[in-house]
Amino acid sequence: MRIILLGDIFGRPGRKIVKEALPQLREVYQPDVIVANGENAAGGFGLTKKVAEELFEMGIDVITSGNHIWDKKEVYPYLQEERRVLRPANYPPGVPGSFLHYLPVGTETLAVLSLTGRVFMGDFDCPFRKFDQLYAEMSQRTHHIVVDFHGEATSEKIAFGWYADGRASVVVGTHTHVATADQRILGRGTGYVTDLGMCGPVDGVLGVDRQVVIQKFLTQLPNRFTVAPGPSQLNGVFVELDRKGKTTEILRLPAQENIV
Ligand SMILES: [Fe+2]
Ligand SMILES: [Fe+2]
Repeated sequence: MRIILLGDIFGRPGRKIVKEALPQLREVYQPDVIVANGENAAGGFGLTKKVAEELFEMGIDVITSGNHIWDKKEVYPYLQEERRVLRPANYPPGVPGSFLHYLPVGTETLAVLSLTGRVFMGDFDCPFRKFDQLYAEMSQRTHHIVVDFHGEATSEKIAFGWYADGRASVVVGTHTHVATADQRILGRGTGYVTDLGMCGPVDGVLGVDRQVVIQKFLTQLPNRFTVAPGPSQLNGVFVELDRKGKTTEILRLPAQENIV
């Protein structure tokens, strides 16, 4: 099974570069599945039904997310009805939205799971134990399992990669918007990268207009964050899984630049 995983899509520039790059990426990598993190897809903060539908229209199969998924309140009922948009599983019970999606891929099934880290993130349930609990369920249905681990601390993401090694097929980190160069196959066959990076404007600060962020650091005053102008970059990985759900290849996608 061939999968493309894209980092946090940031605002309109992020959606634009993904839309423009996908035909060529499809041609080169022949993916069966495309998974993308959409927590910043609507104006840099959150997701709306309209924007999610735009992403599905481009051919993205499952949208994962993280802390910013809650930014646009109108998304709450949509999270309840659209099973292909995931919020992290280890939020408190009763929070809206699904967190695990089983996607039919040819004769196989791919489980896509969203988790959030806790370090510098918030008081969530333990993502390690949540994974154990859900793995018991997922492994009954499939050995093809993708986890988007949305976290700030590299240590927590790396620890989770090792923890899930041999159980998850792929663990990709998201949230920092900065791609790491450590993509590899762990000892028991799990494809791993600490952070996919961002699909969005590169001349800002994590997608946000740099002047706004610099002012925030200089003055410590609250400021309205806006999407950065200028060129965008696409970041993500391609992975290939064998029949047993082990990763046989993980490659960083070439970061494509274009002027938005
Ligand atoms: Fe993000
Ligand atoms: Fe995030």
